[in-house]
Amino acid sequence: MYKSIIRPVLDKLDSETWHNIVREGMHITETSVASLKLLEFLACSGNRLVDEKLNVNLSGIKLENPLLIGAGWDKSGRAVKALYSIGFAGVEIGSVLEYPQPGNPQPRQFMLNPGVCLNWLGFNSPGMKTVGYYLSRYKNSEIPLGISLGINKYIEPKDAPFANAVVAEYLDDDASYFAINVSSPNTPGLRKLQDKDNLIDIVQAVSEVTEKPVFVKIAPDLTNQAVDDVIKVVIDHGLAGIIATNSTNNPSIKAKYGNEWEKQDGGVSGDDGDFRMISTIKIEHIYKQVGDKIDIIGVGGIKDTETALEKIRAGAKVLQIVTGLR
Ligand SMILES: Cc1cc2nc3c(=O)[nH]c(=O)nc-3n(C[C@H](O)[C@H](O)[C@H](O)COP(=O)(O)O)c2cc1C
Repeated sequence: MYKSIIRPVLDKLDSETWHNIVREGMHITETSVASLKLLEFLACSGNRLVDEKLNVNLSGIKLENPLLIGAGWDKSGRAVKALYSIGFAGVEIGSVLEYPQPGNPQPRQFMLNPGVCLNWLGFNSPGMKTVGYYLSRYKNSEIPLGISLGINKYIEPKDAPFANAVVAEYLDDDASYFAINVSSPNTPGLRKLQDKDNLIDIVQAVSEVTEKPVFVKIAPDLTNQAVDDVIKVVIDHGLAGIIATNSTNNPSIKAKYGNEWEKQDGGVSGDDGDFRMISTIKIEHIYKQVGDKIDIIGVGGIKDTETALEKIRAGAKVLQIVTGLR
């Protein structure tokens, strides 16, 4: 029903608008046990699959299976139970900022091809207080929740450690883990925070306010040398691991969909073979350097079993999906 009736209607709408409609529709199903069960029944052709053989231990967090929703799908914590009921083991919320921020002017999210997204949302977030209020609905649910940390646009690099830490401290009770997101392509200067010295300051500030596992999320566009620097920071500071990767701002990948996109700001995600490949290569590289010393969460272009297995074979322990869920 979704593919034959609902999706064709949604495809005619602006990409961000339809996404918001789907997310809020899922939010509404959370108002009663019956509607959640119906969602589960429709999505899973019966009951949600539960199989102990699929259990994964992610840095001490018990996941029923290795598949999470990645950051960006539910930035504010509106549809956690609904996403869990359709089979995901948990949800990474965010990125969450200290203060509300509208993000860039719309339209700012396009489907370049079916399954391939370009967005320059620019960290739209209702801010940590509103997110905390939304997440209070899930207090007793025990659904694993990652919280992706972001910073407001006007934050100077020197203030980034505090800006990350303040969100982690505020949402600490809600989080199963935190992700330091220094890799979104849409906040000017953010990716510079992946540099060793900047990253160390952020990691230290966040580690001071939480004992939850902390991951660092990297861009697929980093050089291997820069990835090695991130690995060193993660290991030296006893962090849980790395999330590889965010979307790409590679101009040649954008240009494949028309010259008009080549110079457009923003990140490409989803079903693009080149993006998927550079993202998987980063996982492979990290795993070669450190093996199982840290956990790798693989994300980037996963759309089916084959593309999921590709990341697992490269060394990912857990997977995330964002653009593929539409
Ligand atoms: C519309 C959209 C918004 C996103 N917002 C965030 C974000 O706020 N924080 C973050 O760390 N990643 C964000 N991402 C990146 C995704 O989490 C993911 O790393 C990337 O899209 C690659 O995965 P995919 O191919 O499954 O989409 C966003 C992606 C999309 C498509």
